[in-house]
Amino acid sequence: MVLGIETSCDETAAAVVEDGVRVRSNVIASQVEFHRKYGGVVPEIASRAHLERLDSVLSEALTGAGVLLDDIDAIAVTNRPGLVGALLIGVTAAKTLSLSLDKPLLAVDHIKAHAFSPSIGLDAPPWPAVALIVSGGHTSLYEIADANTLSRVGSTIDDAAGEAFDKVAAILNLPYPGGPEVEKLARDGNPKAIAFPRTMLDDASLDFSFSGIKTAVLYQVHGPGKTSGGLEKLSQRELADIAASFQQAVIDVLIEKAMRAVRRSGLRTVVLGGGVAANRTLRTALDEACVTEGLSFYAADRAYCTDNAAMIAALGYHQFVRREFAPLDIDAHATAR
Ligand code: KG4
Ligand code: ZN
Repeated sequence: MVLGIETSCDETAAAVVEDGVRVRSNVIASQVEFHRKYGGVVPEIASRAHLERLDSVLSEALTGAGVLLDDIDAIAVTNRPGLVGALLIGVTAAKTLSLSLDKPLLAVDHIKAHAFSPSIGLDAPPWPAVALIVSGGHTSLYEIADANTLSRVGSTIDDAAGEAFDKVAAILNLPYPGGPEVEKLARDGNPKAIAFPRTMLDDASLDFSFSGIKTAVLYQVHGPGKTSGGLEKLSQRELADIAASFQQAVIDVLIEKAMRAVRRSGLRTVVLGGGVAANRTLRTALDEACVTEGLSFYAADRAYCTDNAAMIAALGYHQFVRREFAPLDIDAHATAR
């Protein structure tokens, strides 16, 4: 029974997960309303909100799971990557619980936890698999041989896919966070209306680049070389076409790179996780591509796509089994390993 704690960005989250797969509780206090008026996450506000809310989120996770602190076998906490001040709130709480309860501490990598999120709730683990992890901070491909062996085979060289969704939403004057808003607008649009660039880098690359498409959307809205003045002139239909065409271009790149990773590795299963994996058009398109290629496909449940602590406890469980315990002097780190 692992208690997971996640405070790397703007969600204060705690969860209790049994055997790495059965979620007994999954509590998320979103801070989105605090950050919306700034158009993005303000680190100081995030840290303060974590501090104010973590106690009640932890209590709710324990009550929801029907367990007491004594029933917990270990405490798993995200200690990288993320906003250092935000991470520190969770890390300090986890250390305190570990020390006072005399239970092992598990230091969990947030991105690897996203890669493990598709295994939550499954009777048998989905690996070996290629994992496509698409979030606001990261866009990466992994080969997962088993619960202990995960290697990154590709990642973005500039913006993450979620970041591109958020920036395009800002260009279209949609509220933050933009991903779900772009998806909503795209529903009424034609994905073939505008041929936005699909940046594949070279023929063999498993890396991603999403900064060019954001500029292409900017010029589509305002006119070539212009960065303002065009939005008001567009009809609702034209806006929907831009959203749908942008979304389709991003999805085409994600699927092409995932299929390259499949061909290169010889693996026959694809798993999908991260905040952008909540996007229904992406889930359906990748599922269809896997069916065409005869591959098995597992997308993380939508509840475990955006940031949550269930995935932290799920990966923590595997570290617990390996007795990979963290010392009480662990730090919080901004960067991925
Ligand atoms: O995994 P996550 O919660 O946080 C990070 O670890 O980054 O991902 C958040 C990202 C944001 O960029 C958000 O706009 C995007 O995921 N996102 C979506 C959707 N829901 C969230 N992007 C596209 N479509 C969605 N439905
Ligand atoms: Zn995340």
